[in-house]
Amino acid sequence: TEIPSIKAFAESTELLAIPSTYNSLTNLHDRQVAEELAAQIPVIDFSHLISDDPELHAKGVQHLARACEDWGFFMVTNHGIPESLMDDVINMSHKFHDMSVEEKAEFADKGVSNPIRFGTSFNAKMEDIHSWRDYLKVIIKYPADFTFPLKPAGFKELAQEYCQVTKAVARKLLEGISESLGLEPNAIAKATDFDAGLQVLIANLYPPCPQPELALGMPPHSDHGLLTLLTQNGIDGLQINHKGKWVKVNPLPKCIIVNTSDQLEVVSNGRYRSILHRATLNNKDTRISLAINNGPQFEKVVGPAEELLKKEEAVFRSMSYKEYFELQQKNRLDGKACLDHVRIN
Ligand code: SIN
Ligand code: FE2
Repeated sequence: TEIPSIKAFAESTELLAIPSTYNSLTNLHDRQVAEELAAQIPVIDFSHLISDDPELHAKGVQHLARACEDWGFFMVTNHGIPESLMDDVINMSHKFHDMSVEEKAEFADKGVSNPIRFGTSFNAKMEDIHSWRDYLKVIIKYPADFTFPLKPAGFKELAQEYCQVTKAVARKLLEGISESLGLEPNAIAKATDFDAGLQVLIANLYPPCPQPELALGMPPHSDHGLLTLLTQNGIDGLQINHKGKWVKVNPLPKCIIVNTSDQLEVVSNGRYRSILHRATLNNKDTRISLAINNGPQFEKVVGPAEELLKKEEAVFRSMSYKEYFELQQKNRLDGKACLDHVRIN
């Protein structure tokens, strides 16, 4: 029997234990290490990156290079996105999930490339073990295709505004990342047709879990796009894998959490690796996270940037983003296994 919504399921009874199909046998004994390492996570001051002062800008690019090389993960401050917008869009995501399962039924999964998709876990049909998570995914195709749910009232307007401002921040970050690779600022945007690129808004809800140490909100995985920009409702749960150790993320207030993703690993020819991350749970609070995945244009065939291949051998072959996206989304989440489909050797 499939559970259509873990939120509805968890609210329907007084649960003392998780169903066995949610037991991921996760060993979270490393929690203390995860806390200690959290302090070292890089912080990128966005105002440096966009500064007209060449010295400040160069410093920003240098920080970005180190963050991408050593961590694949960083927190962005001074990004210019209004705090009220960040709060509003998180609250609106909560309102979406607070609608009944019947009200959300019109958005139920009709295939991974469908613009609007409400579901639970990741890919229940393919999984042995499910994740303690409900999601709404909305695919946006720039410059003009903004198909959002029309309820709750106001969701579409807020989500669209948030997607547009995060797209602009991602664009600037990609320019800095291009420079940090010794490329001209627009190189990655050109190689991926970024301005006509795909964006996926993912509103996650993780209900309180009676046995949070046994289940996961999301298993270890990397993201399929170029850069993922994430915010949350003040409840922690994200962990990243840094040099083999899980590190808890305690985000600075109102920062944007960024991780580098598979298509960036491909376009940078392996220089900037996508980072493994997972979502952990707690037994008291509902956690909401809002991930904005920024990727190449859907039909674009993406491989390592031409300029890089003048000096080095390709470590990835080219594949259309659409094909890559569907491979990642149609299977079960399995670490970085999807990248093996394009890795040479
Ligand atoms: C994700 O990996 O897409 C979500 C992680 C989180 O909820 O923090
Ligand atoms: Fe992710």
